[in-house]
Amino acid sequence: MNGHRNAGIIGTGSCLPDKVMTNKDFEKIVDTTDEWIRTRTGISERRITDGNTATSDLATIAALKALENADLSPEEIDLIIVATVTPDVMFPSTACIVQKNIGAVNAAAFDLEAACAGFLYGLSIADSLVKAGSFRKILVIGAETLSKIVDFSDRNTCVIFGDGAGAAVISEVPEGYGVLSTYIGADGRDGHLLTVPAGGSRIPSSIESVKKRLHYIKMDGKEVFKFAVKIMGDAAEKVLEKCGLTKEDIDYLIPHQANIRIIDASVKRLKISNDKVYINLERYGNMSSASVAIAIDETSRKGILKDGDTVVLVGFGGGLTWGSAVLKWKSIGRY
Ligand code: UT7
Repeated sequence: MNGHRNAGIIGTGSCLPDKVMTNKDFEKIVDTTDEWIRTRTGISERRITDGNTATSDLATIAALKALENADLSPEEIDLIIVATVTPDVMFPSTACIVQKNIGAVNAAAFDLEAACAGFLYGLSIADSLVKAGSFRKILVIGAETLSKIVDFSDRNTCVIFGDGAGAAVISEVPEGYGVLSTYIGADGRDGHLLTVPAGGSRIPSSIESVKKRLHYIKMDGKEVFKFAVKIMGDAAEKVLEKCGLTKEDIDYLIPHQANIRIIDASVKRLKISNDKVYINLERYGNMSSASVAIAIDETSRKGILKDGDTVVLVGFGGGLTWGSAVLKWKSIGRY
């Protein structure tokens, strides 16, 4: 071990609500078409929670699956980080609710908010904490019920988002495996491009704020699009540079699933072939912090990721924020 600790993913899990909402369903509620949504975004359908399901419900199931996958009991977890922009309540944190639900009695718990880059922020923090020896087994969860904050009368936003949760257990792994590098960043100057204006201390909830529809996602899609294409390439290059690798070393790229045109443009810029890129956007839409987490769980369970693969994760979102990571993959449970 060389005196250094290495951290990596030792188990993953995910949870998607059963209810499917197709593009055709949206044709009935806003002025849109299946064709527009597919060609402009790459999305065909997304999962939507029912009225009784909150973010912690999805996060809890994803967490239990990740624990099972890692062959750990809840008591062995010493920290839970939930990345979300759709917490159950203002406080307590969704992480504390998950801690109670799964019985992780020995875990500290907190939420972090970095929008769609949230899971990558969580992974970066967990990696540092395990390497430092401060915590041994950390659950990082990206969980969202975006359907609860989407304005179903705004065609610019409502067709894009979906609900879901993904979880990963981060722990010490043998040298040469796991997280090789992470990179996170932010530019608060452009926060207004993607926001839910009301419900916080700037515009507290009121009859007026509800009437003005200020509790829903507001997005300048075009500007976010431009930022996304630039940052996806930059963040991937930077994180590879940090661990002494180059674009040529990428075996697999797992990008944040926001728009197929953003992914295509980034892939073109990075000059990697499309068969090295995981896309589940057409089935789930953009699930913010859950997107990358669910994609890791799917690629892992399907055996798409092979032992020794160099995997690059990259995401961006409201804040504005971005994050990336390089993993040296090894099949779960075989360390
Ligand atoms: O996770 C990070 C969060 N968000 C993102 O990554 C989103 C980034 N942005 C995008 O993905 C794209 O900008 C959108 C998918 C949101 C929009 O696509 P676009 O190609 O940038 O469309 P646009 O905003 O330039 O709009 C083009 C036209 C407009 O009509 P006019 O003004 O040209 O008559 C829109 O009103 O398309 C119209 N439009 C729609 N038409 C049918 C916008 N939404 C729809 C819709 N159906 N759902």
